[in-house]
Amino acid sequence: MTEQTAYSGPQRIFSGIQPTGNLHLGNYLGALKKFVDLQTDGWDGVYCVVDQHAITMPYSPAELPDQTRQIAAAMMACGLDPDVSIIFVQSSVRAHTELAWVFNCVTRMGWLEKMTQFKDKGGDNSERVSVGLFDYPVLQAADILVYKATHVPVGEDQKQHLELSRNIAARFNQQFDVPGFFPEPEGLIEGPGARIMSLKDGTKKMSKSDPAETSRINLIDDADTIAKKIKKAKTDTLGDMPVTVEEMEGRPEVANLVGIYGAMAGLSDEQVLAEYGGKGFGTFKPALAELAVDHLSPITTRMRELMNDPAEIDAALAKGAAKANAVAEPIIEEVRRVVGFWQV
Ligand code: TYM
Repeated sequence: MTEQTAYSGPQRIFSGIQPTGNLHLGNYLGALKKFVDLQTDGWDGVYCVVDQHAITMPYSPAELPDQTRQIAAAMMACGLDPDVSIIFVQSSVRAHTELAWVFNCVTRMGWLEKMTQFKDKGGDNSERVSVGLFDYPVLQAADILVYKATHVPVGEDQKQHLELSRNIAARFNQQFDVPGFFPEPEGLIEGPGARIMSLKDGTKKMSKSDPAETSRINLIDDADTIAKKIKKAKTDTLGDMPVTVEEMEGRPEVANLVGIYGAMAGLSDEQVLAEYGGKGFGTFKPALAELAVDHLSPITTRMRELMNDPAEIDAALAKGAAKANAVAEPIIEEVRRVVGFWQV
């Protein structure tokens, strides 16, 4: 066996968001906000609306283009600049699915059978869900690696998929004896927004698919709705706000609200508790609502403006697709050669 050689190419960020349902505060704090911070820090970033992932579950073809546009609008409204970062739609770069096929033949069934997200989404019905849903993480690995991306900002729920991407990269490099060809992409997961929980149940993550609207704050919610949802957020009957981080133990709903406050204000849990510890929820919740509205309303306003001017979004996505293709094409060309495909 050849000695391991690490990947030594350029560093690059890749991340993706599915155009299913409304974007919520978890998507914002776990992903979008990080994308913008990384752009500010000067990283080369490739940000993708993953419409091919969205068809793995039942969906409406008629609504998909507008949902795709809405995610692009959110990326731009949060501060991703299409002149600086690459913002595009997955299906407009054919190399993703081509690489996914090659990876299908590298990935072992047993690896996919361990994926908890498939088990959650497929539930007891796993015989009847699409093969695409089972294969979903392989396409995700192809998304990342077709750009040889080295770093992937995501929320904590994507940790296992990312681990699989690393395994696929390592396996490809080994199987085809091309050490260091693909990087083993690292997750950028840490941070206060990595796991935002439901406002109704502090043990369940905030999710687009939760039937309870009051469980999440959507990026397109107006100020009134945001304030109402925070006011109604579940707390507990253990009294006032905890004074120390240790006292948040066993109080998941309260810990979640403190985490959300901190993630938006750029403060640690300790710092939030230094200000609100021992105070009543009647003080903390309005402060949190005000912070959330101040933070999100410029984004919401810009998102609405963009959605009213789809031409601006579409032009940005067309430019993004051209730039993404320019990065992916030479890489998929190399892959074709490495795996022995017929050269035309
Ligand atoms: P998706 O569309 O479900 O979510 C988009 C991003 O939001 C993060 N996220 C959260 N972060 C914190 N707290 C939460 N409650 C929360 N809910 C969602 C997700 O971790 C994600 O970063 N499989 C991916 C899309 C994808 C992808 C990729 C991501 C496809 N290819 C390649 C990275 C790299 C997904 O369904 O994300």
